[in-house]
Amino acid sequence: MKAIVYQKFGNADVLQTIEMTTPFIQPNQVLVKVKAVSINPLDWKIRKGQMKLMSGSGFPKSTGVDFAGIIEDTGSAVTNFKKGDEVFGVVKNIMKEGALAEYVAVPSSTVWKKPKHLNFSQAASIPVVGAAAVTALEKMGNIHSQTQILVNGATGGFSLLLLQLLKKTGARVTAVTSTKAMDFAKEQGASFVIDYTKENVLAQKNKYDIVVDLSGKMSYASARPIMKRKALFLNATPKPIEIPTSLIKNLFTGKKHLVILSNPSANNMEILLNAIDAGLQIVVSKVFRFAQYREAYQYAENGGYVGKIAVELN
Ligand SMILES: NC(=O)c1ccc[n+]([C@@H]2O[C@H](COP(=O)([O-])OP(=O)(O)OC[C@H]3O[C@@H](n4cnc5c(N)ncnc54)[C@H](OP(=O)(O)O)[C@@H]3O)[C@@H](O)[C@H]2O)c1
Repeated sequence: MKAIVYQKFGNADVLQTIEMTTPFIQPNQVLVKVKAVSINPLDWKIRKGQMKLMSGSGFPKSTGVDFAGIIEDTGSAVTNFKKGDEVFGVVKNIMKEGALAEYVAVPSSTVWKKPKHLNFSQAASIPVVGAAAVTALEKMGNIHSQTQILVNGATGGFSLLLLQLLKKTGARVTAVTSTKAMDFAKEQGASFVIDYTKENVLAQKNKYDIVVDLSGKMSYASARPIMKRKALFLNATPKPIEIPTSLIKNLFTGKKHLVILSNPSANNMEILLNAIDAGLQIVVSKVFRFAQYREAYQYAENGGYVGKIAVELN
């Protein structure tokens, strides 16, 4: 089968196609014929060597953690799927495995039936950002119509799901986005929109109960002036050291700093699938063909689009 791998850290041009044996499945695994893979910032952060502590420095490395496709084969212990089922899922170890290949073997516990009304690219866009959005909502605790929330970086894959989930709570959400995505952020549930290309969001007078940074460009320290006395900062791009230190610092401050770690658990996927049934939209703004994988990664990394980017296989 064809698979996309890289042999050194670098830009999208280090990605290359290789021929390899179709994976052999363990009793608890399914073999999925991949129809689409969605792109996450995690993919290029690992590829550029920015996450070596977790990804390791061994090569070759594969890429693309979220996928959708059709079950080709099931291990002897798998009872909940059969050949031909349309599914979506995530590789078991998102730091070390990738699904951008003609086939992927994964435990049946990291695969779910594809909602019928979604296409493969949309389904492949659910797991990592969807689980992160559910986790972010959980960490916000008891929010209501008086809760003021700032979502910085509001029209990416993660944030579009979060905006839609927040809309249901009635919270007053201010979305920070670039000019062309302002109307879109409102459509997806934001009450107010700030254009980060025209206004310094940190210089505003408003103070928030919750600040969520999904741009990777706003730190807890810089956000403190726009946070209320007992406000919460949610950090989706923590440095490894911030995971333990934030817990300790939180004991001594009114303002709290929590990190978000995406957990595509069965419970989080059930919450998402119910929300999707109830109308949650999965927005894929551009789909590339398999042969265009380098272009797809470069396009995704350049930003400036709304929602997700996907690569489709035949
Ligand atoms: N911790 C976890 O478990 C977890 C899980 C998933 C994702 N993440 C992280 O969360 C972040 C969001 O993920 P994603 O998939 O939604 O990424 P994404 O699709 O690339 O979205 C990033 C958003 O940030 C906006 N942005 C860029 N520069 C900005 C600035 N200076 N000020 C305000 N907004 C700005 C972008 O808008 P424009 O393109 O219009 O500039 C875009 O809407 C990424 O850093 C990702 O690595 C973490």
